[in-house]
Amino acid sequence: MYQTKIAAVGRYLPERNVTNKELSALIDTSHDWIVERTGIHQRRWFKPGVDTTSNMGAKAAQQAIDRAGISRNEVDFIVFATLSPDYVFPGSGVLVQKHLELDTIGALDIRNQCSGFIYGLSVADQYIKTGKYKNVLLICSEIQSNIFDLSDKGRSMAVIFGDGAAAFLLQRSDNTAKILTTHMHSEGRFAEELFLKEPSGLEEKRIMPDLLERDGIYPYMNGRHVFKHAVTRMTESVSAALEECNKAPEDIDIMIPHQANLRIAEAVRSKLNVEARHVFNNIQDYGNTTAASIPIAFFEALEQEKVKRGDLICFTAFGSGFTWGTALLEY
Ligand code: COA
Repeated sequence: MYQTKIAAVGRYLPERNVTNKELSALIDTSHDWIVERTGIHQRRWFKPGVDTTSNMGAKAAQQAIDRAGISRNEVDFIVFATLSPDYVFPGSGVLVQKHLELDTIGALDIRNQCSGFIYGLSVADQYIKTGKYKNVLLICSEIQSNIFDLSDKGRSMAVIFGDGAAAFLLQRSDNTAKILTTHMHSEGRFAEELFLKEPSGLEEKRIMPDLLERDGIYPYMNGRHVFKHAVTRMTESVSAALEECNKAPEDIDIMIPHQANLRIAEAVRSKLNVEARHVFNNIQDYGNTTAASIPIAFFEALEQEKVKRGDLICFTAFGSGFTWGTALLEY
């Protein structure tokens, strides 16, 4: 059995920075409300005609490839996680393959929303562990600013989400760095507590004549329900992962929870009894970038030298589905 290491990380953020103040001119909200309820100060929004989910992912992927010091044709497989693909089909993995002119390697798309990164990491890890592949690109990219409802009905979501991309080049480990475990869960009975319904496959035709009048064309979120489950499930799955690896919360050098809401991250940290200095958050600057949030934060933790080789890292996520999971690794 082989082991998987993070060889390098790349990131791409759209240039447009949208502050709470700017958002307050579009939506009935305020800087103080957003900061108090979510911790967010600003987020990035994509540039139409320039940024796409797949080309942002490709830029992050190219940076990860460069930093890993390998050539494009050494990439064996692509895993792409997003809830905001360029097209309904095909998936975004093949579009990255097109943008980067990669060989005819396989490309797999993951549809696990905010948990997409953890699910993708787990998939890549299995392929590398079994010896099937040596270099797997895990790409997470989201453009969410174009699906908001800017009316009062949608404002709780519009203030939270942002756009961005990051990519991991995962590699067969040649040293002690390794993914120790990945835990994944889901609870489909809550699928409709955080979802985008329309255009849906439940109708005779996906595009019905009254589509634009339907509430379901905008994402729906039962915010309080999501909040409570996010705290409980992330805490539970971090505890289970630690127990499996005979580790304790105080062994964690850096925990990066999915950047959903600073209050959620803080509640998880406090329930687990992890000291604040061992948790990295950057939701303040980017909002919730869904599948991309943990890898963007990890990229930044590396840039700020908050992480060093040999550290015990904990990633944990929760999102629509409901889906959730945790990964523990020695970096
Ligand atoms: N600006 C100003 N006021 C807003 C607002 C906004 N953007 N959004 C909602 N409000 C108002 C509501 O209308 C409500 O007003 P009322 O008391 O007069 O009825 C009040 O603020 C409280 O709304 P509520 O939805 O109960 O607030 P909350 O404290 O639950 O915070 C969230 C809302 C969305 C920030 C919070 O529920 C949350 O973060 N949930 C989890 C979201 C999440 O993490 N999603 C992603 C998971 S991957």
